[in-house]
Formats: sequence, C-alpha cells, structure tokens
Amino acid sequence: MKDCLIQLENISYIYPDGNQALKNINLSIDAGERVALVGANGSGKSTLQLHLNGIILPQAGTITVGEYQLNNLNLKQIRKTVGLVFQNPDDQLFMPTVGEDVSFGPLNLGLRGVALKERVLQALMAVNLAPEMYIERNPDRLSGGEKKRVAIAGVLAMQPELLVLDEPTAQLDPRSRRQLLYLLESLTQTQIIATHDLDLALDICSRTVILNQGEIVYDGCTLEVMNDLDFLRKNALESPLSLSRPYCSLDDAPQISKNKDLS
Ligand SMILES: Nc1ncnc2c1ncn2[C@@H]1O[C@H](COP(=O)(O)OP(=O)(O)OP(=O)(O)O)[C@@H](O)[C@H]1O
Ligand SMILES: [Mg+2]
Repeated sequence: MKDCLIQLENISYIYPDGNQALKNINLSIDAGERVALVGANGSGKSTLQLHLNGIILPQAGTITVGEYQLNNLNLKQIRKTVGLVFQNPDDQLFMPTVGEDVSFGPLNLGLRGVALKERVLQALMAVNLAPEMYIERNPDRLSGGEKKRVAIAGVLAMQPELLVLDEPTAQLDPRSRRQLLYLLESLTQTQIIATHDLDLALDICSRTVILNQGEIVYDGCTLEVMNDLDFLRKNALESPLSLSRPYCSLDDAPQISKNKDLS
C-alpha cells in the first residue's frame, strides 16, 4: 500500500469579499507522486496551493499532512514538510541579497556554517544561477525569470518532502524551462505543480487534477485528458502544443482573416 502524504477532505473557501474560490475539494496525494494542477485563470489553483502549507487555513473541511491535521498550532511542523513556491516571486523574496534569501529557510531549520553554505550553493546551482554571480545580488533588481529561480532555490534549500510550485515555468526562457523540467523530474520529492504549461504536465506528470470554478472536474491520467479536446474546451483549456492541430478550432482560422482590414 502507498503512503498518503497529503489529504484534503471537503475543503471549501470563500474570500472575504464573498468570492467562492474552492468548492468541496477532495484530494489525496501519495508520497513520490508528481501531480499537475491545471485550470483556467481564476479556477482556484493558487487558492488551493495556499492551503497546503497553511498560508490559508481551511474554513471548512480538513487537511492532513503526514500524521498531522493542519491547524494554526502545528504550522511550523507543516512548513518543514511542505515547501511552497508562490506564483509571484515578489511575494516570496524579501531579504537584501539572494544568498540571504535562499539561506532563510534552512537557517530557520537550524542549519549553520558549512552545511548551510553548501545547501545554499547546491540550491542555486540546481536552478542554474551561478552562485558567484548571484549570491550578493539584490533580489529586487533581478529579472522576472531570475527572481522565480531564486524563489524556487529558496524552497529547494529546505528540502521539503512535498514541493508545491505555482506556475514554476511562467517567466522562464525556453532553456531555463527545460532545465527546470529536468530538475523537477530528477527530484524524488512529492510535487504538486500548478501550471498553464500543459506540455509540462504531459512531459513530467503522469497524473493531472483539473479545476473549474473551484471544483475538481478531473483527477486521473494526464495523457488521457490531454487527448480529450472536447473535455479540455469545456473547461476553457487548449491541448498541449505538442499534441495540437494547426488550429485550435476550425472556426478560429477564417475568423482571424475575416477580422483583418484588407483595404
Ligand atoms: N485575495 C482575493 N480576494 C478575493 N478573491 C480572490 C482573491 N484571490 C483570488 N480570488 C478569486 O478566487 C478565485 C480563484 O483565484 P486563484 O488565484 O486561486 O485562481 P488561479 O487558478 O490560481 O488563477 P491563475 O491561473 O490566474 O493564477 C478567482 O475567482 C479569483 O478572482
Ligand atoms: Mg494562480
């Protein structure tokens, strides 16, 4: 029998302005799985991920991480197990230098001296940021993709059992994206990856969970759902580029030329 690492039971969430972001989510992820979390803008991916390490506490339902039921008394323990990379790196990076930012997590876990330094260097190299070029840089003055890589390094440096990544490839150039995919594939940690990059899902996640307006509408084989164009369209998604036809829909092509001003 496989070990369940995280389980969400009947999780619903309404933002203070009355916007219901999650509706009765039930999800169970085993140790070692790499799961893609997919859905159109506003479908609830980030809200769900913010629940996983208690940045948002459940309003209804329960979350169990390993042997702990998540609540505000065991957040420290939960955050040792679950490392979250935010969608926007500006929400995550706050120290004056890259080195201090990446050290922050492992320092809190008690690492010091050579072990800490090693951990930081390894994490920076894993995301292809040459330590000698970046360690003294101010995170505020990095490009979007560089910031994202520092944010990922900061979480990798904590070696969490569950790695939760929100749009990890969104700002990366093609080479950095490919290198990140290799890295994620090489890690043995459990991963939940929210992404609009359906090719990423197809390449490295055998399981995909799809959200639509706060509800799980699919939880199963990635390859199967990526080939179901009708289902993808119904959920405001398009097929991955590697599987797509010349036009997303036959109606799209004439529409584009009709709209052109040819005069
Ligand atoms: N702070 C907030 N206050 C009120 N509503 C919010 C807030 N943050 C998100 N929402 C709403 O909650 C719903 C889910 O948003 P969420 O950010 O979780 O979606 P998402 O799937 O991550 O979208 P994206 O693909 O654009 O990142 C949306 O309707 C969004 O407008
Ligand atoms: Mg999001």
